[in-house]
Amino acid sequence: MIEDERQQHAHLDALMRAYDEALATHDIDGVLLYSGQPARHFGDDQHASFVAFGHFVHWTGQAQLAHSWLLVRPGEPPTLYLYAPADVWHLPARLPDEPWVERFRVEAHATHEPPALPSGRFAVLGEVSDDIARDMGAKANPPGLVASLNELRVRKSDYEVSCLRDANHRAMAGHLAAREAFDDGGAEFDIQLAYLRGVRQRESELPYPTIVGLNAHGGVLHYQHCDLVAPAARRSLLLDAGARYRGYCADITRTWSGRDSVAEFTPLVDGVTALQHGLIAQLAPGVSYVDLHRHMHEGLAVLLVEQGLVNASTEAVLESGLTRAFCPHGLGHLLGVQVHDVAGHVDATGRRRPPPAEHPTLRLTRELEAGMVVTMEPGLYIIPMLLEAHRHRPEVNWDRVDQLADHGGIRIEDNVLVTAAGPDNLTHQEP
Ligand code: GLY
Ligand code: MN
Ligand code: MN
Repeated sequence: MIEDERQQHAHLDALMRAYDEALATHDIDGVLLYSGQPARHFGDDQHASFVAFGHFVHWTGQAQLAHSWLLVRPGEPPTLYLYAPADVWHLPARLPDEPWVERFRVEAHATHEPPALPSGRFAVLGEVSDDIARDMGAKANPPGLVASLNELRVRKSDYEVSCLRDANHRAMAGHLAAREAFDDGGAEFDIQLAYLRGVRQRESELPYPTIVGLNAHGGVLHYQHCDLVAPAARRSLLLDAGARYRGYCADITRTWSGRDSVAEFTPLVDGVTALQHGLIAQLAPGVSYVDLHRHMHEGLAVLLVEQGLVNASTEAVLESGLTRAFCPHGLGHLLGVQVHDVAGHVDATGRRRPPPAEHPTLRLTRELEAGMVVTMEPGLYIIPMLLEAHRHRPEVNWDRVDQLADHGGIRIEDNVLVTAAGPDNLTHQEP
């Protein structure tokens, strides 16, 4: 058996054992996972793009499979009710040639109705209303069970790590092609096309809409447009773009200077990159991710002073809240079959761990454990609406800050596996 197949079998064996335990703990005989359905536009017959429910993807890797159900019961092979109506409009769903398909019972399912459940205590998880679950004789999304199953996604199996690594390789091929399009003078749209060509996935299959920000657009954290016309001045590109493999996500950001960037910009990009490398080196089991996030702010304060953007001690910069105006998002998040994966705000026992009041956007507050895959994405942006509140501060070199505004911002983001032997960067390939 090839290694890939062996890993998938081991992943399924572990998942079956873990589900058996979770179901026993919560006194439930079985769980039916609903993949979900795409939202239909109001008053229209067209649908939004679709991503299947994470727990369904955890078993099947099928992030695009709608209207399908997976029944998991101890001692039985999982049963996949595969939505496959006789339909002249669409090709029936295709399943991959992978070990899990051999191990599951697969029943074609021609309606949007849920399958009938056997008698017993069942939970239905996914986008299902309480009323529908009650009609099925089941409970919808019982919070205790959902929390236990979320926790199973936090530490990745070898199989999941391979999938995440593969997703990273694909995304890096896209980044490489996109960078060439940037160097060739392309518009945001051209860079987007180059990315998709490199990654070989439709945008609707990617884990999140590609963020292609030239110049000031790099300072809009989730910039959502794609200009068709290339700007005359080429100061910077911020590209945040991922890929999927068997449902698992890559989430990678690179920032590049252009031929028209001011001399101060490239050292800032290098500074954020060095900061990111230093933070990645600190990833280890037992380390608090909140502490790492605070270390990011300390590093940003050092960088702002070193690069002459602020004339003050690093302590004073931190105290003033300026680093939070230059970087309003968290250091990163858990990564898996969802780009912002579940269970970032609880501890291993399920107790809630909200982010610190002064860092409300931090998506991960846990202590790190071996097997977690996290993103590491320090950033430094010129966001006028945030900096405005600090305009009165004479220690800020406003001439320099304002000169950088039309470069937008910098984010450097990699995906890293935490291991007892040190960080394993899944995004190691540089374009
Ligand atoms: N691409 C979204 C994020 O970095 O979290
Ligand atoms: Mn990202
Ligand atoms: Mn991210």
